[in-house]
Amino acid sequence: MTTPKILAPYTFPRTGLSIRNRTVLAAMTNKQSGHDGVLSDDELEWLAARARGGFGIVTTCAAHVSLDGQGWDGEMGVFDDGLVPGLTRLADALRAEGSVSLVQIFHGGVRAPSRLTGQQPFSASVFKLEAKDFEVPREATVEDIEHTIAAFGQAARRCAEAGFDGIEIHGAHGYLITQFLGTISNTRTDQWGGSLENRARFVRRIYAATRAATPDGFLIGVRISPEVADQGVGLDDSLQVAKWLAEDGVDFLHVSNWDSFKPPAQHPESGKMLTTWFREALGPDVPLIATGGVWTPAEADQVFDHGADMVGLARAGIGNASWASDAARIDWEPARPPYTPQHLRNAAISEKMVDYMRLWPGFVTDGK
Ligand SMILES: Cc1cc2nc3c(=O)[nH]c(=O)nc-3n(C[C@H](O)[C@H](O)[C@H](O)COP(=O)(O)O)c2cc1C
Repeated sequence: MTTPKILAPYTFPRTGLSIRNRTVLAAMTNKQSGHDGVLSDDELEWLAARARGGFGIVTTCAAHVSLDGQGWDGEMGVFDDGLVPGLTRLADALRAEGSVSLVQIFHGGVRAPSRLTGQQPFSASVFKLEAKDFEVPREATVEDIEHTIAAFGQAARRCAEAGFDGIEIHGAHGYLITQFLGTISNTRTDQWGGSLENRARFVRRIYAATRAATPDGFLIGVRISPEVADQGVGLDDSLQVAKWLAEDGVDFLHVSNWDSFKPPAQHPESGKMLTTWFREALGPDVPLIATGGVWTPAEADQVFDHGADMVGLARAGIGNASWASDAARIDWEPARPPYTPQHLRNAAISEKMVDYMRLWPGFVTDGK
């Protein structure tokens, strides 16, 4: 029986930090923490169980860098020094279980609803999308922009002080960084909008701020979406942004494909998978994580063959806390949704997250 390729160890070239295998628990919002952003025992256990289950890297939920950036109820925060003791508990627990730990840090922008923040959301520009509960944002002032960049830097510092191995800057899925990258969500005419160079300035400045605020051995990567149609993010632009970030010195790029087994919308005729587009653009040496649509070890190895150094899993890691250990058999088949609430409870998931997962169609059955 062959061992899956994604179970081989990996060493990050710049820092020399090694991971026991190439599996990454991708960031998942789980709504299990307090209204004040303080880490809860439930959220700690949900992540520690996946570290115990063998994942090489465990990533936290998207955690807000400032109060005006909160996207969800029960979201763990990184916006205040008072949160460091909780973060330290989590970093210690993940290290004790043998995983490399990353905090995903973000700002929701237009997706930081006023019912949570008490204020109208801001974004790159004023724009409107046909989305449920969409609140038209105000345009960020230059002060908002500088303030938010600094907040990312301070959040990174807190994560390093807490003992995490690194952070992932969340530039994917339509949150504030994506809103700056997109031609629909960003129609500014100053240095923060217009050309791709200007639209990418925000994420590049954020990266620089986090690097300046953290020690040398700290891992800093960026997650981006190849394509976000409704905000005007296309593959060609995303490849260029990835190249710039690699030149800037990020320790890894993480592409969020949703479905890793299809070519991009912008070049459907290519037949070339999303991960391969990024590998070819970046060259062989830039550490690349790819996530989306992987359930089995055999599928993870396919994404590795597309050019990923590490493969992320989200949904498959919810009902299979020990995915990374069980994957030692290449023909192993994970449990798939719909899951009973009891199955999820057995996988170290609290009622709050079970309830949240009911919003994902076909994920939770009504059984016991
Ligand atoms: C419950 C849930 C919460 C998620 N929350 C986040 C998040 O906080 N940050 C993020 O970048 N992606 C988030 N995602 C997206 C996943 O990280 C992943 O990219 C996506 O689910 C596709 O991977 P999969 O096919 O392995 O599930 C979430 C996905 C799920 C299922």
